[in-house]
Amino acid sequence: MSQNEHRAQRREAPEPEEGARGVPKIVIAWILVLLVWGVGYYSWQIGKPMLGGDSRSAPEQVVANTESGGSGIDGGAIYNAQCSACHQATGQGIPGAFPPLAESEWLLADPKIAVSIVHDGLQGPIEVHGATFAGVMPPFGGNLSNAEIAAVLTHVRSEWGNDASSVDVDLVEAHEAEYGQRGPWTAEELTAEFGAP
Ligand code: HEC
Repeated sequence: MSQNEHRAQRREAPEPEEGARGVPKIVIAWILVLLVWGVGYYSWQIGKPMLGGDSRSAPEQVVANTESGGSGIDGGAIYNAQCSACHQATGQGIPGAFPPLAESEWLLADPKIAVSIVHDGLQGPIEVHGATFAGVMPPFGGNLSNAEIAAVLTHVRSEWGNDASSVDVDLVEAHEAEYGQRGPWTAEELTAEFGAP
């Protein structure tokens, strides 16, 4: 090694190196606390019954529903499964295709009309909330039990600002006894049978 090389080396700043600093103790302590809490909470829950989001088990909710005067059948769930594809989740229907259930004079009138429509179906021109529709609604008498029809009608008659009485299963049974599976109604036939909505 020559004299010059030594001087050149001294002139240079030392190689930079990454500073190393340990993880702060407070962070390690916090991780330990969370770990103990997580494992502890988990083992504390083992063997306890699974609870729903509102902290009631499914059987408790059915009991609550029955006690509140309902049949234990969830009309809202039936609506979502059977009706919302056409009448929409908002109950507004689709202009020109499916009539609205919100503020529908047919739905909110004598419940016998709504029972007839859902049980037997509906076809031909009908005016709903100021607009005319001419579609076909399939009958649900075969798909849904009488109690389910009552539950879904009770639901739609009290949703989206609607405020009509609940529909009792007896009404659906009486309807079936009188009309059987008569096939779809028209608006004209409904008016002749039950009066204008
Ligand atoms: C396949 C689409 C379809 C399904 C599913 C359907 N509907 Fe309808 N609904 C219609 C059509 C179309 C009309 C209008 C028929 C006409 O023009 O004569 C109608 C009319 C009605 C009416 C009378 C008019 C009004 O808007 O108030 C009621 C009440 C009704 N439906 C309730 C229901 C309920 C409750 C269900 C679920 C159990 C249901 N519908 C399922 C298509 C459907």
